[in-house]
Amino acid sequence: MQSRWPRLDGIAYGGEYNPEQWPEDVWEQDVALMREAGVTLVSVGIFSWGMLEPRPGEYAFGWLDKVLGLLHDAGIAVDLGTPTAAPPPWFLRRHPEARPVTRDGLVLGGGSRQAYCPSSPAYAAAAAGITRQLAQRYAAHPAVVLWHVNNEYGAPLGECYCETSAAAFRSWLCGRYGDLETLNDHWGAAFWSQRYGDWDEIDVPRTSTTVVNPAQRLDFARFSSDALLDCFRRERDILHELSPGIPVTTNFMANNCKSVDYWRWAPEVDVISNDNYLTAEDPEGYLGLAMSADLTRSLAGGSPWLLMEHSTSAVSWQPRNLAKEPGEMRRNSLAHLARGADGLLFFQWRAGRFGAEKHHSAMLPQGGTGTRVWREVVGLGAELAALAGVRGTAVEPDLALVWDWESWWAQELEWRPSVDLTYLERVRAWYEASFREGLTVDFAHPEADLSRYRLVVVPALYLTTERAAANLRRYVESGGTLVVSCFSGIVDADDRVHPGPYPGALRDVLGLTVEEWRPLRAGDHVSLTWEEPGLPMDAANPSPLRADSRIAPAAAPAAEPTVASAAAPAVEPAGTADAWTEAVILAGAKPVAWYADGPAAGGPAVTRYDLGEGHAWYVSARTDAPTTAAILQAACACAGVTAPGRQPESGTWPPGVEAVRRSDGERRFTTLINHGETPATIQFPHRTVTVQPGDVEVITE
Ligand code: GLA
Repeated sequence: MQSRWPRLDGIAYGGEYNPEQWPEDVWEQDVALMREAGVTLVSVGIFSWGMLEPRPGEYAFGWLDKVLGLLHDAGIAVDLGTPTAAPPPWFLRRHPEARPVTRDGLVLGGGSRQAYCPSSPAYAAAAAGITRQLAQRYAAHPAVVLWHVNNEYGAPLGECYCETSAAAFRSWLCGRYGDLETLNDHWGAAFWSQRYGDWDEIDVPRTSTTVVNPAQRLDFARFSSDALLDCFRRERDILHELSPGIPVTTNFMANNCKSVDYWRWAPEVDVISNDNYLTAEDPEGYLGLAMSADLTRSLAGGSPWLLMEHSTSAVSWQPRNLAKEPGEMRRNSLAHLARGADGLLFFQWRAGRFGAEKHHSAMLPQGGTGTRVWREVVGLGAELAALAGVRGTAVEPDLALVWDWESWWAQELEWRPSVDLTYLERVRAWYEASFREGLTVDFAHPEADLSRYRLVVVPALYLTTERAAANLRRYVESGGTLVVSCFSGIVDADDRVHPGPYPGALRDVLGLTVEEWRPLRAGDHVSLTWEEPGLPMDAANPSPLRADSRIAPAAAPAAEPTVASAAAPAVEPAGTADAWTEAVILAGAKPVAWYADGPAAGGPAVTRYDLGEGHAWYVSARTDAPTTAAILQAACACAGVTAPGRQPESGTWPPGVEAVRRSDGERRFTTLINHGETPATIQFPHRTVTVQPGDVEVITE
């Protein structure tokens, strides 16, 4: 993984360049303007298959030769695309059987992009053909520093339900299980008469009368991610063979792509790259950006990575495509740099005049160089040139959040105890709490070595393998502080409930059992209290939360509780939760907070178990933001984790301020971004820094 970084100086800067959409006389202007903007790297040819192979086996490379020559003469490096995300019209005409089929059986047509079945042998042959041609022709071209395979595998097409896919699924299952008896066992075939006596009886999990076997669905999700990975590997292997000196990437979508298990993909890619687009209407879109960047860096094993695409301003595919505010593009860009990106590229260089994306922003807008966006693009190019020293340094994380695609898939299949409990919602909740504390998060696979982290949060891990459970236990026993959030540890890799009381796989590490889940009605809330119900509020009887926390956990409830309970004791309300509660029974763990009302009233809501050298916290409810923050603060105190730049006496972290450190052991670059509306002052051991609203400071030590 990450064995090779492209031959590039400083922080790479540029965008996706589509010269084939423009007459030749525009190309020279483009290159001159790229130089003016400080562009050093452009992606070329990503959607050019039809222009490079206009008829099967007939190639037209003349235009690309010229473009690469012009770029090279201007000192601009090229990330050369294999154009296989958009097969030309001749392909589907020759191979109608390669058209993708949806779960509902709809055969998709052409005229768009990504319209091919990933398991199609005809697609594999055609993609290999054009990739081989490109690799042979440009392997030694001095402009080419990186290969860019396909585009955003998994979106918009993650799975195909055609007959070719069904046959490929059967052979994938044969490889996984070996014999039908084992498959029947893993799939729980005794349920609803699903016992298979012949491999050919197995189908892809098409839409059926009602819920389809969840184990079959999970395996199909694994298969579909692997089928796309095979597409990538085939092209990568051709490129490695014919162009051995040039690293290969494919652009990920980190937390925005459910269909591809990037933990499995990351080791296969030479350079990890990612695309990130803000949700334009989210006033705190920078939180989603930070999460995506942190997950990408974690996929890269902490090594530098490349931001392959983001936008200078509005995108064209959201319901309301809000333009970025002045300075927002700079903040977004430097946030990616702060979180480990050693290159920042945009979709796209020049705004197009036709096609589906003509209303998308670009480095060079429709209005040309007389625009605010252009001025900001040029300004950012100069700023990045001055920040070249950041390159190659590593981000310093404060804690890890466990992230798992398989658990995401499993949690969101049908017939779960509550539709309100979704995977990304809980991950984002715990991520946000960390961000607002000024803490930097790594993401980790549940079975990964966690020993470098003092604090690990498991926001949602419905599917927990035995190995993951043993890993978490080992982590705690050796001194780690673990926080597990509700509805985790429930099923194994086949979506089978772990034997015995919930939370099966994590009972031992948490020191408790859950007798029953008590999900709430839509809109209902419960109150939590830090004082044991029935006992007087007594300083001699502090809860572990109060005892451990530097910061009083007296967070105001976000909403009035609407669930009343006759048993509700009159105690200090300390937080609220909605959607989900649990009837927890202690088996070694100490209560930290109780349910003051609701269906689990009087029972423990938050617990802490001292196990070996470490501590395991459990949060059995879907806590609101202030409550999640209070629990995180207490767990940080327990783990000895403090945001750098925050002295214990300085109170809360300034709202809206993002702070991330990169260092190589000798120099440290701390990026401070003020997303708020008032000046923010951050106190470091040897200095105090004030960042104006909307501004970014990169402090070098
Ligand atoms: C994605 C794609 C690009 C383009 C942009 C537009 O990230 O990779 O080709 O469609 O979205 O935002």
